[in-house]
Amino acid sequence: MTAVAPLLELDRVSLRYGTTVAVRDVSLTIARGEVVALVGANGAGKTTVMRAISGAMPVAAGAIRFAGQALKAAPHAALRAGIAHCPEGRQVFAQMTVRENLLVGAHTVDRQLIDERVLRMYEMFPVLGERRGQRAGTLSGGEQQMLAMARALMSDPALLLLDEPTMGLAPIMVTAVGDEIARLKDEGMSILLVEETADLTVRIADSMHLMEGGSVALSGTTAEMVDSDVMRRLYLGEHPPTTPTHEPNEAPTA
Ligand SMILES: Nc1ncnc2c1ncn2[C@@H]1O[C@H](COP(=O)(O)OP(=O)(O)OP(=O)(O)O)[C@@H](O)[C@H]1O
Ligand SMILES: [Mg+2]
Repeated sequence: MTAVAPLLELDRVSLRYGTTVAVRDVSLTIARGEVVALVGANGAGKTTVMRAISGAMPVAAGAIRFAGQALKAAPHAALRAGIAHCPEGRQVFAQMTVRENLLVGAHTVDRQLIDERVLRMYEMFPVLGERRGQRAGTLSGGEQQMLAMARALMSDPALLLLDEPTMGLAPIMVTAVGDEIARLKDEGMSILLVEETADLTVRIADSMHLMEGGSVALSGTTAEMVDSDVMRRLYLGEHPPTTPTHEPNEAPTA
């Protein structure tokens, strides 16, 4: 074999909730080290695609391959293969401490490696080290997002699925989270990103897929997509990069 297989490949994937088809015939690839953005309106199917890649739901048709191998539809299978999911809404365990949340992300990791990984996360996200014994529910929104990303990184994934990492954050935290994602990219992490902040997406993504009604309506390099009218309408019309529309709703950090 001479051609290098993409890290992730979705081949005409369709996904259903019960009898309702939510995603139809979606094909995309992610090369190693590439950041691919999935964009589209609410309900377009972005989260559903991520859930299927993370093994949370089976494909109704088509195939998902990871590093050239068919991916089994089971969360542990995806995690063990090297896919980590940082879900929409962060979903940290509010009653558990920062450290305990990190350990949840480490359940496929060899015991002797866990402490080292936790320390690595404290290095990457110093605020988590400072607050290691604090309950996650008392962290600010931005800190919870750092924790959700660190929890996903505990498995040392080859591919990180990031679903709306800046949703609901104050503008300053949008920037901070964006900087962390950019740093992960610089370190070579492959990322599938769903992100509604246009300038962040444009800054980080190498290529983009626009989803509409469960299908991919348009794909291209980020430069091509920025030039297209569809993208201008979707992103620049609704979320002008210079005027963030998010309400700052973070808990006080005191
Ligand atoms: N658990 C579920 N059961 C039934 N239908 C669902 C379920 N989750 C999502 N859907 C439907 O599937 C479609 C795609 O939803 P999905 O959450 O993937 O969209 P999205 O692009 O992530 O939207 P958003 O930008 O609002 O997060 C929508 O029509 C949604 O109502
Ligand atoms: Mg979603």
